Amino acid sequence: MKASLILVFCLPLLLLSRSSTFSAANKIGQTCLADMNCDAGLHCETCLADGNLRPRCTRTRPSDPKSKGTDLPFNRYAWLTTHNSFARLGARPRAGSLILAPANQQDSITDQLQNGVRGLMLDMYDFQNDIWLCHSFGGNCYNFTAFQPAIDALKEIQAFLEANPSEVITIFIEDYVKSPRGLTNVFNAAGLKKYWFPISRMPKNGGNWPLLSDMINKNQRLLVFTSKSAKEASEGIAYEWRYVVENQYGDGGMVTGSCPNRAESLQMNASSRSLVLMNYFPDAPNPVIACKKNSAPLMEMLNTCRNFSADRWANFIAVDFYKRSDGGGAAQATDAANGHLVCGCNDISYCKINATFGSCNETTEAGVVANKVNTSASVALRPFVDHLLQCMIELLLFLLLGCF
Ligand SMILES: *[C@@H]1O[C@H](CO)[C@@H](O)[C@H](O)[C@H]1NC(C)=O
Ligand SMILES: *[C@@H]1O[C@H](CO)[C@@H](O)[C@H](O)[C@H]1NC(C)=O
Ligand SMILES: *[C@@H]1O[C@H](CO)[C@@H](O)[C@H](O)[C@H]1NC(C)=O
Ligand SMILES: *[C@@H]1O[C@H](CO)[C@@H](O)[C@H](O)[C@H]1NC(C)=O
Ligand SMILES: *[C@@H]1O[C@H](CO)[C@@H](O)[C@H](O)[C@H]1NC(C)=O
Ligand SMILES: *[C@@H]1O[C@H](CO)[C@@H](O)[C@H](O)[C@H]1NC(C)=O
Repeated sequence: MKASLILVFCLPLLLLSRSSTFSAANKIGQTCLADMNCDAGLHCETCLADGNLRPRCTRTRPSDPKSKGTDLPFNRYAWLTTHNSFARLGARPRAGSLILAPANQQDSITDQLQNGVRGLMLDMYDFQNDIWLCHSFGGNCYNFTAFQPAIDALKEIQAFLEANPSEVITIFIEDYVKSPRGLTNVFNAAGLKKYWFPISRMPKNGGNWPLLSDMINKNQRLLVFTSKSAKEASEGIAYEWRYVVENQYGDGGMVTGSCPNRAESLQMNASSRSLVLMNYFPDAPNPVIACKKNSAPLMEMLNTCRNFSADRWANFIAVDFYKRSDGGGAAQATDAANGHLVCGCNDISYCKINATFGSCNETTEAGVVANKVNTSASVALRPFVDHLLQCMIELLLFLLLGCF
């Protein structure tokens, strides 16, 4: 009885989703039923934490800053970064035990890369005579915290670099590997050596990095940082905090109005480090809250951290559940950072190709502002569908409550 009621209410919606009313052309903020109803670079979701019951198209993909030119130093670009990129919701257990560790992302590393993610945070451990991506538990990897052998993820990265000859990827390793040359061996086995960006070319005292175009032309398109300082000398893997300042991760990095450095990093305003990494995710990953945090609060923290970082915008913006937001999300935050870094404008879409710093495209700016207004007014654009959705939600609530 109840099931058939739901069917009666859901069927028209299902049909609508396939009709022209719901063609794959919906913009940010417009009502949708499935990802296929939204434009490219968007997906369909609600954000209950923000009180958004109406499923809407939200962004998953930042704009490519390379479309505005590649002739700036690498430290003049921003990249969307996923925290614990490997810890995928619903990951198939690979170590013969259920995974009891929390998930931080919704999709595979390949999908993340396809969506424009260019920074990956990977926790690597010695495990089962191999290197695994795993969650920490007293510095050890266990069957129930092990996600997958690192080589599988690294091969996904290799395939992406191979297929996309002008993309640059940065890996941040939380490094628990003690086996001799363990990291070197697994990167070599994955075929990543030929993309390696050498330490000898990294600026040592806060200077500019090589131009992005130069890194692409030389095929030095993989930056790898480790959290173990000794591996810089022993394996040629850059010790992250010799090159990067990074704010506190977890809850301590989400306090409004502050952006303290993490213990291993120099202060955010240290001029002897030319890359800035901003963490913005809680201690306990939470897919429900993520959409709210990845929205306005993320944008505000981007500004706060800039103020604490000697007016430098973040080069890496690291979040959990990068696709979750109530609209522009982490993609928009990345676009904002790129706008400021690349051309001194509020969004990368306002930058002109190869333009001098400070020259913004007012035409685009006006267009985007108008678009934003229309986005917020989109509730009124599809009153019928919204009404139907509202009805369905109320009916479901009614049926659920009726069970008790
Ligand atoms: C962990 O995995 C290994 C190898 O798959 C297996 O031999 C071992 O019994 C597992 N341990 C537990 C506690 O599940
Ligand atoms: C750098 O930041 C620290 C901590 O926020 C602050 O105490 C210090 O005054 C800053 N230094 C400069 C030169 O702004
Ligand atoms: C950052 O600093 C600017 C200039 O001092 C100020 O206007 C702005 O409110 C600050 N933003 C945040 C989020 O602290
Ligand atoms: C400015 O933006 C408009 C609209 O997006 C675009 O058509 C135009 O080519 C841009 N102009 C420059 C100089 O980039
Ligand atoms: C931008 O600069 C690059 C390299 O200098 C050049 O190849 C390209 O044609 C320029 N594009 C535009 C639109 O000026
Ligand atoms: C936004 O809506 C107004 C009026 O409804 C329209 O004139 C304008 O062209 C729209 N802008 C965009 C970018 O669609």
